[in-house]
Formats: sequence, structure tokens, C-alpha cells
Amino acid sequence: MSPQPQAAVGAPLSRVDGRLKVTGKAKYAAEHNVDGAVHAVIVDATIGRGRITSIDTRAALAQPGVLRVISHRNAPKLPYRDNAMSNKSNNPPGRRLRVFQDDRVLFHGQPVAVVIATTLEAAQHGASLVKVHYDAAPPSTELTKAKADKPTKYARGDAEAGLRNAAVRMDLTYSMARNHHNAMEPHATIARWTGDKLTVWDKTQWVLGTQTEIAAAFGLPQDDVRVISPFVGGGFGSGLRGWPHVIIAALAARVTKRPVKLVLSRKQQYFGTGFRPAYEYRLRVGSDRHGRLAAMAHELDAETSSYETFTEGVLPPGQMLYSTPNVQQTYRTVPLDVNTPIWMRGPGFATASFVIESAMDELAHKLDLDPIELRRRNEPDEDQSSGRPFSTRRLRECYSVGAREFGWHRRNAKPRSRREGDWLIGMGMAAGVYDTARMPAQARVRLDADGTAVVETASSDMGPGTYTSQTQVAADALGLTMRTVDFRLGDSLFPPTPPHGGSMTMASVGSAVLDGCNQVRRQAIKLAVEDKESPLYGVDANDIVVRGGRLHLKNNPTRGEKYQQLLSRNNRTHLEAQGSFAPPSGTQRYSFYAYNATFAEVAVDATLGLVRVRRMLGVYDAGRIISPTLADSQAIGAMVGGIGTALLEHTVTDHRDGRIVNANLADYLVPVNADVPDLKAIYLDGEDREADPLGVKGLGEVVMIGVAPAIANAVFNATGRRIRQLPITAEALL
Ligand code: MOS
Repeated sequence: MSPQPQAAVGAPLSRVDGRLKVTGKAKYAAEHNVDGAVHAVIVDATIGRGRITSIDTRAALAQPGVLRVISHRNAPKLPYRDNAMSNKSNNPPGRRLRVFQDDRVLFHGQPVAVVIATTLEAAQHGASLVKVHYDAAPPSTELTKAKADKPTKYARGDAEAGLRNAAVRMDLTYSMARNHHNAMEPHATIARWTGDKLTVWDKTQWVLGTQTEIAAAFGLPQDDVRVISPFVGGGFGSGLRGWPHVIIAALAARVTKRPVKLVLSRKQQYFGTGFRPAYEYRLRVGSDRHGRLAAMAHELDAETSSYETFTEGVLPPGQMLYSTPNVQQTYRTVPLDVNTPIWMRGPGFATASFVIESAMDELAHKLDLDPIELRRRNEPDEDQSSGRPFSTRRLRECYSVGAREFGWHRRNAKPRSRREGDWLIGMGMAAGVYDTARMPAQARVRLDADGTAVVETASSDMGPGTYTSQTQVAADALGLTMRTVDFRLGDSLFPPTPPHGGSMTMASVGSAVLDGCNQVRRQAIKLAVEDKESPLYGVDANDIVVRGGRLHLKNNPTRGEKYQQLLSRNNRTHLEAQGSFAPPSGTQRYSFYAYNATFAEVAVDATLGLVRVRRMLGVYDAGRIISPTLADSQAIGAMVGGIGTALLEHTVTDHRDGRIVNANLADYLVPVNADVPDLKAIYLDGEDREADPLGVKGLGEVVMIGVAPAIANAVFNATGRRIRQLPITAEALL
């Protein structure tokens, strides 16, 4: 087949759903108007661990409008079939929280009852009137004071010997605060039963994961549950599993026999859904006098809940980012009386990256080497964890382009050597890496006789612009304009797709869309070359391209016809195909990662310890960029997020009762406009043909990695103070 002209892919287009969003017509989970819906408000446990001894619901039930109060005392028993991590679920190993099934309280904020009322106000007031008494026990919520599980281990070579014999040694300990997702849209669910079948409108990054979790909890066939989620008002991973409140909404609807709407309050987001866990991380590094790494030993502890064991990809960067003959890693989860964590943008890798990239900066300083030169000296020839070649790895180019564009030569290697009035100025950089994940996906493509197409997948669009980028892929593959392709997502009735996370949607879903559209285009071309009445009759199918909905000879555009003419003459109402993508099974031949070099300049108030980021630059080796405008929005958003992780975000727990003290946007600090300077993103041209048919390597996560350490390293360069904790606060700098 002749390659299709690429008109939409690579073009700087605005979001196809932008108008819907800015005019308020895009409906988010709680905004769907479901006839007869009543409102549910959850009552949260006010102890950190223990048992419920009594629940007094009389005052709540006496309120006008209150229909029911459901708790473990009167809730129907649910089967809660096993649904631990599989290709249909993101539940970590363990026994998930079963709502209202017994009297135990496992963490502060756990749902202990739900009030259903005809108005939101009545439900809220009713919830405030439910009196719950407890037999409270002291919770264990301190990572450094609790007993850890057995570790996961990795080793190659002999790290202890490597460290012993190293000319230069460092032994460093880092602490990273818990971070919470704070997307604009709160988690929300509307549930409606029709007989034994359930329809749910939900904020989710994976309609199929939510569908299977509801089906498992209620013991229903998967197909009896439909999950709809056409728009997601931001997401960083908190939508990647079906949380207890989703089950509560469905349960409340079943008990009241009314559709039920349940919106988590801003406060409830902090314990109703997961979070990026806090870490304690010891890293020992040994190198020779030229900075060539001999050994690294990683020992990390991460919080998880008492009932589920959540782990994430913290180990890979330490195994493959730099050439290191001797590596040992121990990763221990520490069960605490908290709710279960979940992935948050750049999961695992962002955490490891802060530690490794801070340590590399320390090593460079110790050896009086430029931090980029140190990294160049440790660039591996292959992935040392697997012995496989990298499909593409252009980290060196990220360094050189970044150094040039950022003006790295202006950095004074001596810390605390540049001052402007009260401000100490410094520059720092870090490398970043993120796994190029791909999973099986499908897409349904239909080309109608009017020359327009409909493409359907169960994917989500939490904000990266999936509607737009997938439309770009489909438009080019079908030879249509953007306006004549209707891309639909967010419905479990659509063909299956993987979780909308881990930066795998473009590679996985995009490749399925590409395949389906290619099939339909080929069907049309075949129809034309076999149709005696077509101007393309008898020509070689390989010589035909489609542009603007018109099939024509590649080298003679005057000879051809429109889809409409072809289909109507052949009495075809439409052509359709099921597109699919699956990454190669079995052992992969290559090691697939996306990379970046991130640069930051900061100013630190010499007296007050206040840190201001002055500018940042990210240079990305992420394969082909489908949608440059939306890629910029990803990169800039991630740098903003990284400023939050580096300087502001910190969940504070009162260890006496396990309560999150700052469960609101006034006290849990996130960057605001005044915190965000000039941010710039550069993408290396190119594609990764081994990764997937589109040549993309994933972008949404890698743009976040390296941001926090680049800022930390700039703070060191500005002040001479090495802060091995996140966030880097003014208090730490004083
Ligand atoms: Mo993200 S942690 O891939 O939603």
C-alpha cells in the first residue's frame, strides 16, 4: 500500500473537543442528567483504626428528604468476587476494602455509612447527623516506625564488593512525601439499575476496569454493567481503579431503587482514592575517580495499606539508566493504617529519578565534573538489566540540545557563586526515563456512504487530548479531514482498550485505530480497483492514496473518485473494520524507554529560603509526536506538576488518629500561576519503529520525570545546600 499523506498527524492542531469544554457542553461524571436521581453523601470514619460500636441514624432519617442511611448494620452482603491485578483489574494483591460489610475501621476517612436523600443539601445535612461510636485503637501511620513486609529484591554483580572497592563512595538517605492527586474534577459516580443491569457514569481512566470491579463486587456478569465516561476533568492516575465510592453509589441505587449520584468532596479525595506513596530511600553509590559507576545499592521503603500491597516501578531506573556493573535493590512495602496508594504521574520512576539524579549531581560535585559529562561517561551500550539493545535511546542528544538551548555554559559549577540582590541563582539538570508500555487494544472503524467516519474505542481522555490525537491518526489513515472523523471513547460498550495511564494510550489505542482505518481504506481501494465503473478500475492498489475523502492515483491526482461515489454506486451503506493492536508476545528483542533531559534555573531568597523556579526546559526523546500542541500541554503541565512535587506538595498526617490534616486545596499546596515561570519543551525529531506502528514512545509520564531533581540540583547550585527530601521547603533551607 502506498503510504498515506500525513496532513493531520504532526500538525499543531487545537483540541477537537475544546469548544465543548469551554462552553460547558462536555459532560463530566456528575453532570449527566439522569431522571429521578437522588443524592448520596458518605459518612467518613473519624478514627484511624478500630471498630464501630454503634450507629445512630435517627436524627438523619428524621430530616426531610432523607430516604435511607446504609451502613454495615443494614447493607446487603455483597459477594466481592476476587478481582486482583489482572488484565481486567488494577486491584493490587490483598483483600480490597469491602464497603459496609463489617464493623472494622482500617483507616481514618473510611466510609462507614452513606446517606441518600432527594437533594444534595439534605444528604449532606443528614450525613452530619449520623452519630457513629467507635472502639478506637491507635493507628500506625508512620513509615519510619512500622514493620516492613518482606522485600522484593534485585541484584547483579556484587554491589557490596563494588562499593567496598570503589575509589569514591556516597551513602545518602532521601525522604519523599506522599502526594495526592488533585485533579479539577472530583471523583463522582452516578448509578442506575434497570432490573439486574446497571449503568454507571463515572470519573474513570479505565471504563473496563471500573466495569469489571463493579461486576466482581456485585457478582454480576461483566456485560450487565455498562460504564460511561466521555470526559474526565483531569487525572494523574487516581482514576485507574474502581474505588469504594463507586460500589457505594451502585449499592445505594440498588437499595433505594432510584438512580443515585455520589460526588466525593475535595476532602474525601484524600482518602477515598489513592495517592503517590511516601518513600524512605537509602542509596549507596560507588565510582572510580573518573566518575564511572561501579556499584549502586538501593534500599527503599514505601507505604501501603494494611489490606492491599501496592507496588510500582521504582526499581527499573536503577537497573538501566546508567552503566553500573554491580546493582542491588531491596524494595519493601510498609503496611500502615491508611487507604491503598495508586500510581500518580510518572509512577515509581519519578521517585527513583529524584534519588538517582540528586545522587549523580552530588557525585559530579564531589569529582568536580560537569553533571552532564558525568552522565555521558555512564551512558550504557545496552539495557544492562536484560542485555537487550535499546530500541531507540537518544539521551546524549537530549543533553546536548538541552545544554545549548538552556545556556548551560553560563552555569557556574561552584555553588552559591551567583547572586542578584537577595536572591541566590542556580542551575541544575537531571535525566529522565520512563517505560514505553504497550498493551492490546481494539477499535471499531466505520466509514459511512456520506464520506464521514466513526471510530470507537473504550479509551478515556483524562486530558492529554486523546480525542484529538486519535482523530489525527484516523483522519490521515482514512484520507479524511479532521472534521469528517467522529472519534468516540469512554463507553464500556466500545471495543476494549487498556487503562488510560502509563503513557500507553497513543501507542496501544492509536495503533489499533491506525490498523482499523488502514483496513477500511484498503477495503475501499479494493472496491474501486475491482469496479468497472470506477475511474480507478484495474489500477494497482498500491498506487492509490486517499486525500480529502477522495481516492486517487498517487502520481495522477486527477484520476480518482470520492468515497461517496464509490460507496453509493456499489450500494454500500458503509465499510467497517475492527482494528487491533498487540505488542509482540514472548521475549521482546529490544528495551523500550522514553527519555528526557530537564533543566531548571532557580532563585533562592538567601534569608528566607524561598525558592522560585525562574525557567525550565525539557528535551524529550519520546518517539514520534502526533500532536505537537497537545504534547506541549503535556510537557508544560508535567513541569508544573514537578514544581509541585519538588517544592510544595506534602500530605500531612496526624499520627495520633491517622487524620490527614491538610485535606484541602488551601493547605495542600499545588503550584499556582505565580509559581510557574517560562517553561519550554523540545522534542527530538524521530520515531521508534520497533515500539509500535505509530513510532511513539509515550509522553505523558516521561515529561514529569526529572523535574523535581533538576530543581533540587539547581537549589544546590544556588545555595550550596543539598536537600534530600521532597518537598524542598523554606524550613529545610533555613
Ligand atoms: Mo498515570 S499514573 O499513567 O494516570
